[in-house]
Amino acid sequence: MLVTLKEMCTEAASTNKVVPSFNVFGYEDAKVIIEVAEELNAPVILMSNKDAVAHMDLKYSASLYRSMALETKVPVCIHLDHGQDFELCAKAIQAGYTSVMYDGSQLPLEENMKNTIEIVKMAHACGISVEAEIGSVGYSDPNIKAKRIYTEPEEAKLFAEKTGVDALAVAVGTLHRMTEQAAVLQYDRLEAIQNITSIPLVIHGSTGLTDEDLVKLTAYSIGKINLGTALRMTFGNTLRDEMNANPKEFDRIKFFKQPMIEVKKVVKEKYQLLGW
Ligand code: G3H
Ligand code: ZN
Repeated sequence: MLVTLKEMCTEAASTNKVVPSFNVFGYEDAKVIIEVAEELNAPVILMSNKDAVAHMDLKYSASLYRSMALETKVPVCIHLDHGQDFELCAKAIQAGYTSVMYDGSQLPLEENMKNTIEIVKMAHACGISVEAEIGSVGYSDPNIKAKRIYTEPEEAKLFAEKTGVDALAVAVGTLHRMTEQAAVLQYDRLEAIQNITSIPLVIHGSTGLTDEDLVKLTAYSIGKINLGTALRMTFGNTLRDEMNANPKEFDRIKFFKQPMIEVKKVVKEKYQLLGW
Protein backbone atom coordinates (compact mmCIF):
# COMPACT_ATOMS: atom_id res chain seq x y z
CA MET A 1 0.00 0.00 0.00
CA LEU A 2 1.39 3.39 -1.02
CA VAL A 3 1.25 6.28 1.44
CA THR A 4 2.75 9.74 1.82
CA LEU A 5 5.34 10.68 4.41
CA LYS A 6 3.00 13.03 6.23
CA GLU A 7 0.53 10.37 7.40
CA MET A 8 3.30 7.98 8.40
CA CYS A 9 5.44 10.51 10.28
CA THR A 10 2.61 12.31 12.04
CA GLU A 11 1.47 9.04 13.57
CA ALA A 12 4.98 7.94 14.56
CA ALA A 13 5.83 11.32 16.11
CA SER A 14 2.87 11.05 18.46
CA THR A 15 3.60 7.47 19.59
CA ASN A 16 6.61 5.73 21.13
CA LYS A 17 7.80 4.62 17.73
CA VAL A 18 10.00 6.12 15.02
CA VAL A 19 9.93 4.99 11.40
CA PRO A 20 13.38 3.96 10.14
CA SER A 21 13.91 5.34 6.66
CA PHE A 22 16.43 3.45 4.57
CA ASN A 23 18.54 4.47 1.58
CA VAL A 24 17.91 1.82 -1.06
CA PHE A 25 19.79 1.10 -4.27
CA GLY A 26 17.54 -1.38 -6.03
CA TYR A 27 15.56 -4.56 -5.66
CA GLU A 28 17.79 -6.40 -3.18
CA ASP A 29 17.62 -4.00 -0.26
CA ALA A 30 14.02 -2.87 -0.94
CA LYS A 31 12.91 -6.52 -0.87
CA VAL A 32 14.41 -7.38 2.53
CA ILE A 33 13.24 -4.11 4.11
CA ILE A 34 9.66 -4.82 3.02
CA GLU A 35 9.96 -8.39 4.32
CA VAL A 36 11.00 -7.13 7.77
CA ALA A 37 8.19 -4.57 7.82
CA GLU A 38 5.69 -7.30 6.98
CA GLU A 39 7.03 -9.49 9.81
CA LEU A 40 6.70 -6.59 12.27
CA ASN A 41 3.57 -5.06 10.73
CA ALA A 42 5.41 -1.76 10.42
CA PRO A 43 5.48 1.02 7.85
CA VAL A 44 8.32 1.35 5.33
CA ILE A 45 10.18 4.31 3.88
CA LEU A 46 12.38 3.61 0.86
CA MET A 47 14.65 6.53 -0.04
CA SER A 48 16.64 7.29 -3.18
CA ASN A 49 19.70 9.43 -2.50
CA LYS A 50 21.91 11.36 -4.91
CA ASP A 51 24.05 8.31 -5.77
CA ALA A 52 20.99 6.16 -6.40
CA VAL A 53 19.44 8.84 -8.62
CA ALA A 54 22.68 9.15 -10.60
CA HIS A 55 22.81 5.36 -11.03
CA MET A 56 19.19 4.67 -12.01
CA ASP A 57 16.75 7.15 -13.51
CA LEU A 58 14.00 8.06 -11.07
CA LYS A 59 11.34 6.74 -13.40
CA TYR A 60 12.77 3.22 -13.18
CA SER A 61 13.24 3.27 -9.40
CA ALA A 62 9.75 4.71 -8.94
CA SER A 63 8.22 1.93 -11.06
CA LEU A 64 10.16 -0.76 -9.19
CA TYR A 65 9.37 0.47 -5.68
CA ARG A 66 5.76 1.36 -6.53
CA SER A 67 5.09 -2.14 -7.85
CA MET A 68 6.68 -3.65 -4.73
CA ALA A 69 4.59 -1.31 -2.53
CA LEU A 70 1.37 -2.28 -4.27
CA GLU A 71 2.04 -5.95 -3.51
CA THR A 72 2.25 -5.51 0.25
CA LYS A 73 -0.29 -4.67 2.95
CA VAL A 74 2.16 -2.58 4.99
CA PRO A 75 2.26 1.16 4.24
CA VAL A 76 5.14 2.13 1.97
CA CYS A 77 6.40 5.65 1.31
CA ILE A 78 8.77 6.23 -1.62
CA HIS A 79 10.91 9.21 -0.82
CA LEU A 80 13.46 11.34 -2.67
CA ASP A 81 16.31 11.96 -0.22
CA HIS A 82 18.29 15.25 -0.28
CA GLY A 83 16.71 16.65 -3.45
CA GLN A 84 18.94 19.54 -4.49
CA ASP A 85 16.50 21.62 -6.52
CA PHE A 86 12.95 22.22 -7.71
CA GLU A 87 13.48 20.30 -10.96
CA LEU A 88 14.64 17.10 -9.27
CA CYS A 89 11.77 17.22 -6.76
CA ALA A 90 9.29 17.78 -9.61
CA LYS A 91 10.83 14.91 -11.56
CA ALA A 92 10.50 12.56 -8.57
CA ILE A 93 6.85 13.50 -8.10
CA GLN A 94 6.13 13.02 -11.78
CA ALA A 95 7.87 9.62 -11.65
CA GLY A 96 5.64 8.46 -8.77
CA TYR A 97 7.50 9.21 -5.53
CA THR A 98 5.08 9.90 -2.68
CA SER A 99 7.40 12.23 -0.78
CA VAL A 100 10.37 14.49 -1.48
CA MET A 101 13.05 16.07 0.63
CA TYR A 102 14.25 19.45 -0.53
CA ASP A 103 17.70 20.07 0.92
CA GLY A 104 18.52 23.77 1.00
CA SER A 105 20.68 23.36 4.10
CA GLN A 106 23.79 24.82 2.44
CA LEU A 107 21.96 28.03 1.53
CA PRO A 108 21.32 31.09 3.68
CA LEU A 109 18.13 30.71 5.75
CA GLU A 110 16.03 33.12 3.66
CA GLU A 111 16.91 31.37 0.41
CA ASN A 112 16.34 27.91 1.89
CA MET A 113 12.93 29.11 3.09
CA LYS A 114 11.99 30.73 -0.23
CA ASN A 115 12.88 27.61 -2.25
CA THR A 116 11.16 25.30 0.23
CA ILE A 117 7.93 27.33 0.01
CA GLU A 118 7.88 26.91 -3.80
CA ILE A 119 8.45 23.16 -3.56
CA VAL A 120 5.80 22.74 -0.86
CA LYS A 121 3.31 24.61 -3.07
CA MET A 122 4.02 22.37 -6.04
CA ALA A 123 4.21 19.09 -4.07
CA HIS A 124 1.10 19.72 -2.01
CA ALA A 125 -0.84 20.53 -5.19
CA CYS A 126 0.07 16.99 -6.27
CA GLY A 127 -0.80 15.44 -2.88
CA ILE A 128 2.86 14.75 -2.07
CA SER A 129 4.67 15.36 1.25
CA VAL A 130 7.77 17.49 1.70
CA GLU A 131 10.65 17.24 4.15
CA ALA A 132 13.22 20.05 4.42
CA GLU A 133 16.31 20.70 6.54
CA ILE A 134 17.13 23.55 8.87
CA GLY A 135 20.66 23.87 10.17
CA SER A 136 22.98 21.45 8.41
CA VAL A 137 23.79 17.90 9.51
CA GLY A 138 27.12 17.76 7.65
CA TYR A 139 29.28 14.78 6.67
CA SER A 140 31.98 12.82 8.48
CA ASP A 141 33.61 12.18 5.08
CA PRO A 142 36.07 15.10 4.60
CA ASN A 143 35.80 14.72 0.81
CA ILE A 144 32.20 15.92 0.95
CA LYS A 145 32.10 19.66 1.34
CA ALA A 146 29.05 20.50 3.43
CA LYS A 147 28.72 22.81 6.40
CA ARG A 148 27.85 21.50 9.84
CA ILE A 149 25.47 23.91 11.57
CA TYR A 150 23.45 22.95 14.64
CA THR A 151 19.75 23.82 14.37
CA GLU A 152 18.61 26.87 16.31
CA PRO A 153 15.19 26.17 17.87
CA GLU A 154 13.78 29.62 16.96
CA GLU A 155 14.82 29.17 13.33
CA ALA A 156 13.21 25.74 13.24
CA LYS A 157 9.93 27.23 14.48
CA LEU A 158 10.02 30.06 11.94
CA PHE A 159 10.97 27.69 9.12
CA ALA A 160 8.20 25.21 9.94
CA GLU A 161 5.54 27.88 10.19
CA LYS A 162 6.57 29.82 7.08
CA THR A 163 7.15 26.88 4.74
CA GLY A 164 4.35 24.46 5.71
CA VAL A 165 6.66 21.43 5.35
CA ASP A 166 5.39 18.07 6.58
CA ALA A 167 8.59 16.97 8.33
CA LEU A 168 11.69 18.84 9.39
CA ALA A 169 15.25 17.51 9.49
CA VAL A 170 17.28 19.01 12.32
CA ALA A 171 20.99 19.00 13.13
CA VAL A 172 21.41 17.94 16.75
CA GLY A 173 24.69 16.05 16.78
CA THR A 174 24.70 13.42 14.04
CA LEU A 175 26.86 13.47 10.93
CA HIS A 176 26.24 11.65 7.67
CA ARG A 177 28.24 8.55 6.81
CA MET A 178 29.70 7.72 10.19
CA THR A 179 31.03 4.18 10.20
CA GLU A 180 30.89 3.85 14.00
CA GLN A 181 27.93 4.42 16.35
CA ALA A 182 29.71 7.38 17.91
CA ALA A 183 27.47 10.46 17.45
CA VAL A 184 26.99 12.69 20.48
CA LEU A 185 23.39 13.86 20.50
CA GLN A 186 22.42 17.20 22.01
CA TYR A 187 19.19 16.21 23.75
CA ASP A 188 18.72 19.71 25.19
CA ARG A 189 18.69 21.19 21.72
CA LEU A 190 16.31 18.50 20.46
CA GLU A 191 13.97 19.12 23.36
CA ALA A 192 14.06 22.89 22.84
CA ILE A 193 13.18 22.38 19.17
CA GLN A 194 10.31 20.01 19.86
CA ASN A 195 8.90 22.29 22.55
CA ILE A 196 8.32 25.12 20.10
CA THR A 197 7.46 23.26 16.89
CA SER A 198 4.54 21.02 16.08
CA ILE A 199 5.69 19.01 13.08
CA PRO A 200 7.42 15.63 13.02
CA LEU A 201 11.20 15.98 13.26
CA VAL A 202 13.71 13.94 11.29
CA ILE A 203 17.21 12.82 12.24
CA HIS A 204 19.71 12.25 9.42
CA GLY A 205 23.01 10.42 9.67
CA SER A 206 21.51 7.86 12.03
CA THR A 207 24.08 5.15 11.38
CA GLY A 208 26.14 7.10 13.93
CA LEU A 209 23.52 6.76 16.68
CA THR A 210 24.08 4.26 19.46
CA ASP A 211 21.45 1.59 20.16
CA GLU A 212 20.67 3.45 23.37
CA ASP A 213 20.03 6.69 21.45
CA LEU A 214 17.73 4.90 19.02
CA VAL A 215 15.61 3.63 21.92
CA LYS A 216 15.66 7.01 23.65
CA LEU A 217 14.54 8.87 20.52
CA THR A 218 11.25 6.99 20.43
CA ALA A 219 10.06 9.21 23.29
CA TYR A 220 10.58 12.38 21.21
CA SER A 221 8.48 13.97 18.45
CA ILE A 222 10.51 12.27 15.79
CA GLY A 223 8.73 10.92 12.73
CA LYS A 224 11.63 9.27 10.97
CA ILE A 225 15.33 8.63 11.25
CA ASN A 226 17.46 8.18 8.13
CA LEU A 227 19.80 5.23 7.82
CA GLY A 228 22.09 4.54 4.91
CA THR A 229 25.68 3.73 5.75
CA ALA A 230 24.84 0.89 8.17
CA LEU A 231 23.16 -1.02 5.36
CA ARG A 232 25.70 -0.16 2.69
CA MET A 233 28.54 -1.33 4.94
CA THR A 234 26.75 -4.59 5.71
CA PHE A 235 25.95 -5.31 2.08
CA GLY A 236 29.40 -4.37 0.77
CA ASN A 237 31.42 -6.13 3.46
CA THR A 238 29.38 -9.33 3.19
CA LEU A 239 29.64 -9.26 -0.59
CA ARG A 240 33.44 -8.94 -0.32
CA ASP A 241 33.61 -11.93 2.04
CA GLU A 242 31.42 -13.99 -0.28
CA MET A 243 33.59 -13.19 -3.29
CA ASN A 244 36.79 -13.97 -1.40
CA ALA A 245 35.35 -17.24 -0.16
CA ASN A 246 34.11 -18.30 -3.63
CA PRO A 247 36.74 -17.20 -6.16
CA LYS A 248 35.39 -19.45 -8.92
CA GLU A 249 31.79 -18.23 -8.64
CA PHE A 250 30.66 -15.46 -11.02
CA ASP A 251 26.88 -15.45 -10.73
CA ARG A 252 25.85 -12.24 -9.03
CA ILE A 253 22.48 -13.56 -7.92
CA LYS A 254 24.34 -16.15 -5.82
CA PHE A 255 26.70 -13.49 -4.47
CA PHE A 256 23.75 -11.28 -3.43
CA LYS A 257 22.11 -13.97 -1.26
CA GLN A 258 24.22 -13.63 1.90
CA PRO A 259 24.43 -9.79 1.76
CA MET A 260 20.62 -9.70 1.61
CA ILE A 261 20.38 -12.00 4.65
CA GLU A 262 22.82 -9.82 6.62
CA VAL A 263 21.13 -6.55 5.60
CA LYS A 264 17.80 -8.01 6.68
CA LYS A 265 19.22 -8.69 10.17
CA VAL A 266 20.41 -5.07 10.51
CA VAL A 267 17.09 -3.70 9.28
CA LYS A 268 15.19 -5.82 11.81
CA GLU A 269 17.46 -4.74 14.64
CA LYS A 270 16.96 -1.04 13.83
CA TYR A 271 13.16 -1.45 13.62
CA GLN A 272 13.07 -3.20 16.98
CA LEU A 273 15.22 -0.55 18.68
CA LEU A 274 12.81 2.05 17.30
CA GLY A 275 9.83 0.48 19.01
CA TRP A 276 8.46 -1.96 16.41
O1 G3H B 1 19.71 10.93 4.19
C1 G3H B 1 20.27 9.86 4.48
C2 G3H B 1 20.77 9.62 5.80
O2 G3H B 1 20.87 10.78 6.53
C3 G3H B 1 21.75 8.53 5.96
O3 G3H B 1 22.77 8.77 6.88
O4 G3H B 1 24.25 7.09 5.89
O5 G3H B 1 24.90 8.31 7.93
O6 G3H B 1 23.09 6.61 8.03
P1 G3H B 1 23.82 7.62 7.23
ZN1 ZN C 1 20.67 12.64 5.11
